[in-house]
Amino acid sequence: MTIDYTTKIPNNVNLANDRTLQRALEHWQPRFLDWWREMGPNAFSSADVYLRTATGVDAQGWATYGEVKMPDYRWGIFLAEPVPERTIGFGDNFGQPAWQQVPGELRSQFRRIIVTQGDTEPASVEQQHLLGLTCPSLYDLRNLFQVNVEEGRHLWAMVYLLHAYFGRDGREEAEELLARHSGDADKPRILGTFNEPISDWLSFFMFTYFTDRDGKFQLKSLAESGLDPLARTCRFMLTEEAHHMFVGETGIGRIVKRTLEVMKELGSDDPESVRRQGAIDLPTIQRYMNFWFTSSLDLFGSEVSSNAATSFANGVKGRPDEGQYQDHLCKEAVYELETPQGRESVSLRNAMNEVLRNAYIKDCEIGVKRWNMQISRAGFDFQLKLPSPRFRRAIGAWANSPTDPQGKVISLEEFGSKLPGWIPSESDRVFVTSLMQRVVEPGKMAGWIAPPDRGINNLPVDYEYVKLN
Ligand SMILES: [Fe+2]
Ligand SMILES: [Fe+2]
Repeated sequence: MTIDYTTKIPNNVNLANDRTLQRALEHWQPRFLDWWREMGPNAFSSADVYLRTATGVDAQGWATYGEVKMPDYRWGIFLAEPVPERTIGFGDNFGQPAWQQVPGELRSQFRRIIVTQGDTEPASVEQQHLLGLTCPSLYDLRNLFQVNVEEGRHLWAMVYLLHAYFGRDGREEAEELLARHSGDADKPRILGTFNEPISDWLSFFMFTYFTDRDGKFQLKSLAESGLDPLARTCRFMLTEEAHHMFVGETGIGRIVKRTLEVMKELGSDDPESVRRQGAIDLPTIQRYMNFWFTSSLDLFGSEVSSNAATSFANGVKGRPDEGQYQDHLCKEAVYELETPQGRESVSLRNAMNEVLRNAYIKDCEIGVKRWNMQISRAGFDFQLKLPSPRFRRAIGAWANSPTDPQGKVISLEEFGSKLPGWIPSESDRVFVTSLMQRVVEPGKMAGWIAPPDRGINNLPVDYEYVKLN
């Protein structure tokens, strides 16, 4: 299937054959553009940015590179190719044909899940709204904008589903997706992490590493959904999402690399000395990790959840890579949990949030291992570490049981007095913010981050990825 760029909304869903739907989306489009102009990276509207645009869903077409002004980016609607004769892969409807329409009795469940996913996409664009002004290089500026336009496209993906499958309710929800705003006192975004400010690039890299990875796992489990258009949408979104996590992993890796260079020059790991040289000391990086990892863990919800059980039973939301399991019904299976009250056996269906969270944590470990390899290769005795999933939780069994980063239960007083040393303190933030000075000469990097190993799409690192005009 090719995408018709003569239409206002590029798509591979045959929009031209559904005039009502096309008109509804063409009506929503100018509102989206107004939102982008107001809440997006609007200081850079006239810049020419070297971006990839999806012009097809196959290997050749999904990343077409060229210079684009962001407001002219072709946000489109792309679903992965259908799997012929696809059947539902889990839950009580296992083995039945996947749904091409939303079953009436599952309407509100599907709507809620699509709205919640959809809400995160514009939220992150809003959170990153001013970051471009303090970019450490043109390469990084371009990556920020690539992430931003694709989150915009992911919003389109969810809005398409709302418009196409949920009638008037769906259209109203699509309006609301542009009416809530990250951090807004009256109309915040739905999920906590997406209301946290991202005002420095260390936070941005942590967000793309930890929070975009939550996105990956949500999308992976929705890619298993019995609702075929939702599954196909999420499958294609995952292709784009991989780059966002690449930005996070390599971003943190490059910061660590620069810090190690400074530590070697100094012959010291003293945080104050490292800071005086304009690099970010490893303990500060650890505190930022503690913050974004724990905040992202809450996005998976409670360990024991009847909602999660219902979603699984009904075929709404599966497990990531459902194919890896033998038992797709999970009717009898139990799951062992550690709660503040002790060990608990719960039905596996009720523990689906925990299954997803554990898969996520495993995936988070991979980058941490790589950064630690850099540190030990440089000859320093320091290891970055993911805190315990019990630490600093606001949702679930551990929400009211304060622990230290190792997961040991402590008193509320101890937690209160030590927390400022476990997550970024005000003075950490002031220091990190003081480093955020804009660098826009092609090939130049800010002093706190090493250059990347290679450029984008085989171009050199010193390519002018953003022409600021
Ligand atoms: Fe996204
Ligand atoms: Fe993303």
